[in-house]
Amino acid sequence: MMTTNDGLRLRSVTAEQILDSRGHPTLQVQVVTDDGASFSGSAPAGASTGDHEARELRDGGSDFGGRGVTNAVTLVADQVEPLLTGTKWVTLDDIDGALYRLDGTGRFAKIGANTAVAVSIACARAFAHQQRIPLHEWISDQLGTTPVMPVPHFNVVNGGAHAANGLAFQEFLVAPTGARDISDAVQMGAEIYAALEAELRSRFGSLGVGDEGGFAPDTDDENQVLDTIMRSIERAGLTPGLNVRLALDAAANSFYDGKYYRLHGRWRSADDLLARYVDLAANYPIWSIEDPFDESDRNAWHDIMDRLGDRVQILGDDIFVTDAARIRAGAKEEIANAALIKPNQIGTVTQTFEALRTAREVGFRTMISHRSGETLDTFIADLAVGAGTGQIKAGAPARGERVAKYNRLTRLHKLYPQLGYAQWWTD
Ligand code: PGA
Ligand code: ZN
Repeated sequence: MMTTNDGLRLRSVTAEQILDSRGHPTLQVQVVTDDGASFSGSAPAGASTGDHEARELRDGGSDFGGRGVTNAVTLVADQVEPLLTGTKWVTLDDIDGALYRLDGTGRFAKIGANTAVAVSIACARAFAHQQRIPLHEWISDQLGTTPVMPVPHFNVVNGGAHAANGLAFQEFLVAPTGARDISDAVQMGAEIYAALEAELRSRFGSLGVGDEGGFAPDTDDENQVLDTIMRSIERAGLTPGLNVRLALDAAANSFYDGKYYRLHGRWRSADDLLARYVDLAANYPIWSIEDPFDESDRNAWHDIMDRLGDRVQILGDDIFVTDAARIRAGAKEEIANAALIKPNQIGTVTQTFEALRTAREVGFRTMISHRSGETLDTFIADLAVGAGTGQIKAGAPARGERVAKYNRLTRLHKLYPQLGYAQWWTD
């Protein structure tokens, strides 16, 4: 659809403190446009964060264990609203640039990436509205991409920093690559999740869940987890490797001591851990491994690319932190072949677009991602569709803040049935 862009005017920009899915305070921002329409954006929060992520603004002190965001709420009222109202904005780039300059530190150490991302997401929605096009279409216009429904990667077993069990690896994910469409994929995810619950209950009795809604069985054995997931896929009437592939997020920063990796109660070398990944990839239909090594252990990343990079997606999260320059450097060093994309890691939607453009330029795949601390904001669903990444992870197919994203995808499919389901795995 052709649209004219005669600029966006904002009447107000306000913020409030809400709770995220972990019960921690976070920021929700509301912008009202000059025609009276209002749009919101909220900030998620990570637990296993990369060293180079943009900074969050938190109150400190004793309330909420120091995690309050009332200073950010005040900052929006005192500085962001005066900055953004009373001007005509032609692009989101201009607004995000103004936030970046207001901050002045290059990593949002002053106004906080939580402030920036919530404002930026709300303004992205306002721009789509002002141009009278759906958000995913506005995003694809910005990026020059073809929108497509992503394959959801459901995080069905949680470990690492997201669960109180012995699993070193943080996420065990199922990806219904052989689904007909997103509704079919969501159904597969939910049925596998239900079958897995039954399998794990009969094996472990009581069963907790982790931060992202995946089960947290009391084990430290990845093979046991993967075998149980394989059985659950079959129990749901599906075929592992055909309809459904597996993925891992090791989040290896969280079990690295500067030299060794802690696995099954023992300290292991990067070579031992690499041998473990090679073994797992040979025995299970694992198509993607995220953060296999610590972000500083770049030789080990290079080695896994040599061993598995032609068959397996080696996906950088903490090592790239959605930063275009870090993605470019990673491609040059050949330490990965894909980048995870989380808007709050870098701060604004504009910088997220830069990371996506750079990834495309260097031939990396991308996966759009939620955070372990989430809200009901569904921006990342529209982002995944509009950017045409073909991949999203938003947690288990359970718990409100997780299913909000999957339900949004299903809704977009109903509204825009011409959007195809991603087919990248047939490459
Ligand atoms: P985080 O975890 O949101 O706690 O960083 C998600 C991930 O590591 O992918
Ligand atoms: Zn990760």
